[in-house]
Amino acid sequence: MLIFLIGFMGSGKTTLGRPLASRLGYDFVDLDKAIEAGEGLTIGEIFATRGEERFRELERVYLQEILSNKRDAVISTGGGTPCFNGNMEAMNAGGVTVYLKLAPAMLADRLASAKVCRPLLAGKSPEELLQYVSDTLAVREAYYEQANVVVANPSRDVGRLAEVLKPYLIHF
Ligand code: S3P
Repeated sequence: MLIFLIGFMGSGKTTLGRPLASRLGYDFVDLDKAIEAGEGLTIGEIFATRGEERFRELERVYLQEILSNKRDAVISTGGGTPCFNGNMEAMNAGGVTVYLKLAPAMLADRLASAKVCRPLLAGKSPEELLQYVSDTLAVREAYYEQANVVVANPSRDVGRLAEVLKPYLIHF
């Protein structure tokens, strides 16, 4: 089974995805990392040299490849993945989607201290960051809320997430 972790930047998709995969004995795929490895460029470089639209197309292509070729895997998607090019429908058709849901203030807090380079957040003051997160999340939630499973305020302990997913693991 394919388990897609979705949610805003900073929601913990990668942090939780890796231990969840190892607990289930599944492969782990970080979609951004797969794109970076395949293209030989960082996400920042792709945005800078090819633009966001091209990045969204690459995101769709790499996601489709995972859907076609992977069997049992946990996939950490990018924050925008479900919101473009029919990706949410594709993930719901090909696996279980799990929305890691956090409030804007919490996300902005985490992102302010994050070390990962995120082109969409570059150069924002803490106030601008909170505004951006609130505005963008308001648009994106319509996609995120289509997830099969919504986990509000996911704890860092992956055990709870694995518990929530149990019915799906038996079903598939
Ligand atoms: C993006 C989120 C990033 C990455 C890219 C765009 C977004 O992934 O895909 O910078 O549109 O929210 P993370 O959610 O892993 O930071």
